[in-house]
This record gives sequence, structure tokens and C-alpha cells, in this order.
Amino acid sequence: MKTVLITGANKGIGFETARQLLEKGFFVFIGSRNIENGLQAVQKLNAEGFSNVEAVELDVTDPASVRTAREEIGNKVSVLDVLINNAGINGGSDPYTVLEATSDEYLNAFKTNLVGTAVNRQQKVDTIF
Ligand SMILES: NC(=O)c1ccc[n+]([C@@H]2O[C@H](COP(=O)([O-])OP(=O)(O)OC[C@H]3O[C@@H](n4cnc5c(N)ncnc54)[C@H](OP(=O)(O)O)[C@@H]3O)[C@@H](O)[C@H]2O)c1
Repeated sequence: MKTVLITGANKGIGFETARQLLEKGFFVFIGSRNIENGLQAVQKLNAEGFSNVEAVELDVTDPASVRTAREEIGNKVSVLDVLINNAGINGGSDPYTVLEATSDEYLNAFKTNLVGTAVNRQQKVDTIF
């Protein structure tokens, strides 16, 4: 059975991706920065009849969190076949435009959408992936 970790999969596109990969027979790890939200997502998928799914606490802006998630997954599977770096934010309030965004909003978006993925790879915390 192929395995996949989807970051930010407790809702939105990540959650729907999880559902569709479950339909295709994958074992899915639902990455969620709030484990309670991740567990709720798993419960929803269980209620739809999917059992090959687990929640993993994972905040992409926190290297310690990524390392812990990597260890947790590594204790369960020897190979992770697919990593989907889905977690992301638009960085500001809705509606959000580049003309209105503050420097903090830009920095927050870069921290999550760019550094959260790039630096964690540099630290090789995702080497099983
Ligand atoms: N929807 C669109 O039209 C669109 C267009 C272009 C690109 N995208 C990109 O597609 C991806 C999914 O979008 P979406 O519409 O499904 O967004 P969404 O509904 O807001 O879901 C985003 C997911 O990312 C999670 N997340 C945010 N920051 C995180 C962090 N630091 N660590 C771990 N997880 C984090 C959120 O967790 P919480 O629930 O805890 O907030 C949530 O699970 C994003 O990367 C987004 O930028 C979306």
C-alpha cells in the first residue's frame, strides 16, 4: 500500500486530496498543526468508510514539530511514497491584496509558504520522504 503525508490536510484542498487518495487505496497521514482538528478530519473520513488514515501533528513553521512528525511517521512506515506540501496561508485578512498587505503579513506568508518547506528540507528532517 502506498503511503502519503499531506501537510495542512485537516481542511480545504488538503482534506479533499486525502479523501481522493484514500479512494485510490493510499494510506494517508493527515498533517495538522492542531492535532484536534486533524483527529476530527480523520473521524470524518472514518465516517465515510475510510480506515487507512491517521492524523499527525505538524506545523511547517516549527522545525521541532516537523522533526517529531518525521519520527512518528518513521516509527510506523519504512518509506513514505508521497509528500504533498499543501499547507499554506494567504498571509492576510480577506480580501487580501498586495497593495494592502503589511510587512508582517508578507513575512508570515513567506514563513509558512516558503521557509516552512525549504528550511525543513535543508535540515533533512524529511529524509524518509
Ligand atoms: N484555495 C485556492 O484558491 C488556492 C489558490 C492557490 C493556492 N492555494 C494553496 O493551496 C493550499 C491549500 O489551500 P486551501 O484553499 O485548501 O487553504 P485552507 O482551506 O486555508 O487550508 C490550509 C491548510 O494549511 C494549514 N496550515 C496553515 N499554516 C500551517 C502551518 N504553519 N503548518 C501546518 N499547516 C498549516 C491550515 O491549518 P489550520 O486549519 O490550522 O489553519 C489548513 O489545514 C495552500 O497552500 C494555498 O496557498 C489555494
